[in-house]
Amino acid sequence: MTYVVTDNCIRCKYMDCVSVCPVDCFYEGQHMLVINPDECIDCGVCEPECPASAIKPDNEPGIEPWRELNARMAAILPQITEAKAPPPDRETWRDVPDKLLSVYGTATPETV
Ligand code: SF4
Ligand code: F3S
Repeated sequence: MTYVVTDNCIRCKYMDCVSVCPVDCFYEGQHMLVINPDECIDCGVCEPECPASAIKPDNEPGIEPWRELNARMAAILPQITEAKAPPPDRETWRDVPDKLLSVYGTATPETV
């Protein structure tokens, strides 16, 4: 099992998750972070730290597309080991549903 970053992270990027991960397995896209499922040790520490509740265990129903997205994007994005400043408009995006579709117009963007 692994944890994965899901839709709620998009355009929010609160960054609280980065500081607590003991194995530095977060990777940074332009609008969201992802977890490398091959590096995550399933400790669960990051899940309650996210203010947007964007981090989920991969045994939740319907999570498989997000697991695939995390794995695919972690392979090409740069690793992030220290939290950076989050986007100034993060609160505006916090409760917007289905951001992957509304922001990118597709469920399978090449870059997030
Ligand atoms: Fe890192 Fe643990 Fe979260 Fe996996 S579950 S991403 S190892 S903090
Ligand atoms: Fe994203 Fe939550 Fe981390 S919004 S950057 S997964 S703290």
